[in-house]
Amino acid sequence: MSGDNKIRIGVMSCTNIVRKLSRAINLAPNATIAAIASITTSIQETKSFAASNGFPPTVKIHSSYESLLEDPDVDAVYVPIPTSLHLEWVIRAAWNGKHVLLDKPVALNVSDFDLIVAACESNGVQFMDGTQWMHNPRTTKINELITDSESFGHIKSVHSCFSFAASETFLKNDIRVKPGLDGLGALGDAGWYTIQAVLLANNFKLPKTVTALSGPVLNDAGIVLSCGALLSWEEGVTATIYCSFLANLTMEITAIGTKGTLRVHDFVIPFQETEASFTTSTGTCVNDHKVMTELPQEACMVIEFARLVGEIKNKGTKPDGFWLSISRKTQLLVDAVKESIDNNLEPVFLSGR
Ligand SMILES: *[C@@H]1O[C@H](CO)[C@@H](O)[C@H](O)[C@H]1NC(C)=O
Ligand SMILES: *[C@@H]1O[C@H](CO)[C@@H](O)[C@H](O)[C@H]1NC(C)=O
Ligand SMILES: *[C@@H]1O[C@H](CO)[C@@H](O)[C@H](O)[C@H]1NC(C)=O
Repeated sequence: MSGDNKIRIGVMSCTNIVRKLSRAINLAPNATIAAIASITTSIQETKSFAASNGFPPTVKIHSSYESLLEDPDVDAVYVPIPTSLHLEWVIRAAWNGKHVLLDKPVALNVSDFDLIVAACESNGVQFMDGTQWMHNPRTTKINELITDSESFGHIKSVHSCFSFAASETFLKNDIRVKPGLDGLGALGDAGWYTIQAVLLANNFKLPKTVTALSGPVLNDAGIVLSCGALLSWEEGVTATIYCSFLANLTMEITAIGTKGTLRVHDFVIPFQETEASFTTSTGTCVNDHKVMTELPQEACMVIEFARLVGEIKNKGTKPDGFWLSISRKTQLLVDAVKESIDNNLEPVFLSGR
């Protein structure tokens, strides 16, 4: 296809996640990096960042986010900046008509996120959060199996953990432990994934109550470094999540149905980029499943985003609200866990939220 049809993405900042995403954009056939804006590096440094990460030579270099958002040659922006800056910059992006791929957590709370949603809706721009594993072909397969009542039955309980042992430097300096930057700490980072996993296993239905488990660990500034929660649906369906910067690397989902059990050991970042596995079991019989992934999951995410933006740009359709609704539910549950932690582990009731 001609380069003119590609979705032209502008990226904000020169961080490691931009390195990963720019590789994904280069691998996605319908997307291209059109511009980059960095406010923490000089034009020269940004240029060499672009060159060393395989950006097209035509990439435009901006020294402010404003000028990136005003660039008529940019269709969409990838926004990996600290969460406390999302509200301002995503709203500005939307009012400039730019579609938005936004890193998680999407906001500091759901009321802030609703302002982002309103700006995207007023301006007809596509919104998607940057949770990569949701776009792995394995996730589609898992979803099919869990919703197959013949082999899985219906969901009874699901448990998801994402932990890693952060270095001392990380625990001192990373934006994810700083109140003014990513104030939701491990809950907004690792916890975000576990919450999407338990939502997926429940067909994206919100639980009735959320109760934080005892023993959350907070740093001196009150940022969550480690916590767990119990989520309950009608008819005794339950889930637990655990997220931590203080425990060994673990990326698990165990989903238990009335007829089968599904287990994933590397759900956030597959151990192998080109092949993702999981098991299902019924009784004592365990089946290994392997899903081949031609492209890394972050490229699958960019392809899906470019497809949705392409529908709007080329066919004039309305934005698709599916991913936005999942982001909102996830944020709502992140907020509920935080609220329970802040209220002596009291349950939080979600009806009407
Ligand atoms: C949401 O977060 C913003 C920014 O921290 C804060 O100003 C606002 O009061 C919060 N809203 C609620 C309902 O907690
Ligand atoms: C996690 O545990 C394994 C052993 O189970 C160990 O080899 C590894 O070093 C641990 N990782 C970290 C980051 O502590
Ligand atoms: C990529 O763009 C081409 C041409 O506009 C279109 O036919 C195709 O469906 C697009 N593919 C995806 C995955 O969006």
